[in-house]
Amino acid sequence: MDMSNFPLTHHFDVIIVGSGGAGLSLALSLPEHFNIAVLAKSTLTDASTYYAQGGVAAVLDETDSIEQHIDDTMIAGVHLCEMDAVKQTVEGGKPSVDFLLKHGVQFTLDEQEQLHLTREGGHSQRRIIHAADATGRAISTTLVQRAQEKENITIFENYIAIDLICSQKLGLDGENRALGLYALNEESAQVHTFLAPFTALACGGAMKAYLYTSNPDIATGDGIAMAYRAGCRVANMEFNQFHPTCLYHPQARSFLITEAMRGEGAYLRLPDGERFMLRFDERAELAPRDIVARAIDYEIKRLGIRHVWLDITHKDESFIKEHFPTLYARLLELGIDITKEMIPVVPAAHYTCGGVVVDENSQTDIAGLYAIGETSYTGLHGANRMASNSLLECFVYGMSAAKHIQENFKADQAI
Ligand code: FAD
Ligand code: SIN
Repeated sequence: MDMSNFPLTHHFDVIIVGSGGAGLSLALSLPEHFNIAVLAKSTLTDASTYYAQGGVAAVLDETDSIEQHIDDTMIAGVHLCEMDAVKQTVEGGKPSVDFLLKHGVQFTLDEQEQLHLTREGGHSQRRIIHAADATGRAISTTLVQRAQEKENITIFENYIAIDLICSQKLGLDGENRALGLYALNEESAQVHTFLAPFTALACGGAMKAYLYTSNPDIATGDGIAMAYRAGCRVANMEFNQFHPTCLYHPQARSFLITEAMRGEGAYLRLPDGERFMLRFDERAELAPRDIVARAIDYEIKRLGIRHVWLDITHKDESFIKEHFPTLYARLLELGIDITKEMIPVVPAAHYTCGGVVVDENSQTDIAGLYAIGETSYTGLHGANRMASNSLLECFVYGMSAAKHIQENFKADQAI
């Protein structure tokens, strides 16, 4: 293609939109002879990945099994998950953990210097590796640093991808193929053209569509919208997940209280002190999060109250400070000492279970176009994603996209 009339044109082998867990696991899994662009519409760490608290689910303990993780995922997803995707993801647990450790992510260890496993709703076992209560920060900062060190990865911060360039739209013959995209450089206010034989959308979810959300401002569903406009199928967009426990506080915007707190024994209480989850589900506070969020919503409406309470005060002060140092410090700044006081919480929009339909290689309906992470619909989550399965999905499908791109890359494919 003659691009001489387009001076702001960049040529790469792979363009990745998104610097979260999904985008960077693809970037870091491709061989170093690939010339890669990573675009982020804000700073590199301004992504849901950075804000993740609980951790990454993976079968690591000998008392756990792939079958149990699969069963738990299916039950949490109300049996609307696709078995092949569930199996692929769960089996990818150990390789994903190895990938993170190889890149230097520091997770919390137990007394035997093994990875400490915490628990969250829907999981029948302790299987969540974490970095205290700020797992996303550890993952995001480490992967960003690794990407910045790589000479074959060019980073474009504050570039907003606007629309995909596809062969059919340009009137070219043959199969419809993604050729790249247009992106707005926010600083110069100029639109740049990015061209590559492979483009991956790793733009996160769409939960900023809601007023009350745990998500950062970048989560506006851009990847899903771009793929849909280009002709890709999207699925399950009606399944938007609400996290049961976001802080109810006028000064705390988008502030999640991790489900791991309930995993480590915190109770949900009404103003009169009743532990009401026992009335809704025998798994009580550790029922899948759709059930817990609906129960809280029901009680809030029934009693005409503004929030319910999350109570971990019955645990030792040292245990609380060790397991939840970030939450302890942040809530203390807001005047709540969680070792002595209950936390006011409400459900808030948290996760887009649907997205761009992809296959096991993260390929969309358009050749050369991939979708990974929260932007995608792999079939893993069904009607309700189980806690800590999202980051896992980012890594598993980031790596499978890398393998597929590598297998399909032809050196003469340059556009
Ligand atoms: P993100 O990490 O959101 O990254 C999206 C990237 O796309 C960003 O770099 C953004 O700048 C870029 N982008 C978006 N649109 C454009 C555009 N138009 N142009 C250019 N760039 C664009 N999951 C778990 O498994 N475990 C947890 O403990 C956990 N805790 C969570 C806690 C919080 C507070 C939140 C919000 C989510 C949590 N989740 C957790 C969910 C999980 O963090 C996300 O689903 C996952 O991180 C999504 O990763 P991603 O790479 O798909 O997207
Ligand atoms: C949390 O820490 O509660 C969030 C976990 C998740 O969304 O998977």
